[in-house]
Amino acid sequence: MTTIRPYRPADRADVYDICVRTGASGADARGLYSSDALLPDVFAGPYVEYQPDLAFVVDTGRRVAGYVISVADSQAFADWYDAHWLPGFRERYPLTEATSQKEREAIGFGLDPHEAIVPEVDRFPAHLHIDLLPELQGQGYGRRLIRELLAALHGRGVPGVFLRMSPANTGAMAFYRRLGFEELPSSRSDAPALAIATNADV
Ligand SMILES: CC(C)(COP(=O)(O)OP(=O)(O)OC[C@H]1O[C@@H](n2cnc3c(N)ncnc32)[C@H](O)[C@@H]1OP(=O)(O)O)[C@@H](O)C(=O)NCCC(=O)NCCS
Repeated sequence: MTTIRPYRPADRADVYDICVRTGASGADARGLYSSDALLPDVFAGPYVEYQPDLAFVVDTGRRVAGYVISVADSQAFADWYDAHWLPGFRERYPLTEATSQKEREAIGFGLDPHEAIVPEVDRFPAHLHIDLLPELQGQGYGRRLIRELLAALHGRGVPGVFLRMSPANTGAMAFYRRLGFEELPSSRSDAPALAIATNADV
């Protein structure tokens, strides 16, 4: 039976797998970078290490095939990241003259987590990432994961959550808009930023 449940440390490998398989604006990013761990090392690993209690997964009974991960306080997370995650990340992904432009861009996201924080962070201190493998998409699990996360954030007194996304990911944009996420004033067509209050009914 497929269920939504809190993240456990044993789910980490599945979370990494989902992240890379949905990392190319929603499509499979395996083989696109020097390591398939690069995108998860930016967009998943540090989150479940820093705040595992704000991660929820879809468990099919065979494996974890979807997740929403979040941090309650994006500024505090970025500070933690600089001190505890960045040193290892730099070692694993050195920038050299041979580093491709594409890889350079992905590594760049991992070098400065402060950069992604929106100016509206007081109203929306948390941020999230959500990904489901193709076989789970379009069946309401995304909505249920967001609902679960909003309840958890609201329970901690966090007023809102933002996300940044690739402008190429039109499916995800339709999903967020359908749930009631709104584009922030700081959103740009090349770097969309959306947010929702945690007391919203999705
Ligand atoms: C984007 C994603 C999280 C959405 O989750 P999902 O489980 O597929 O979406 P749901 O089935 O819960 O859909 C919720 C609502 O959004 C709408 N929606 C979802 N995906 C949509 C799409 N591609 N186009 C249009 N509407 C969409 C649904 O129609 C549904 O509305 P309804 O309930 O009124 O019918 C999921 O498809 C996914 O992981 N995609 C690949 C990775 C990705 O792009 N992640 C986001 C990165 S920013």
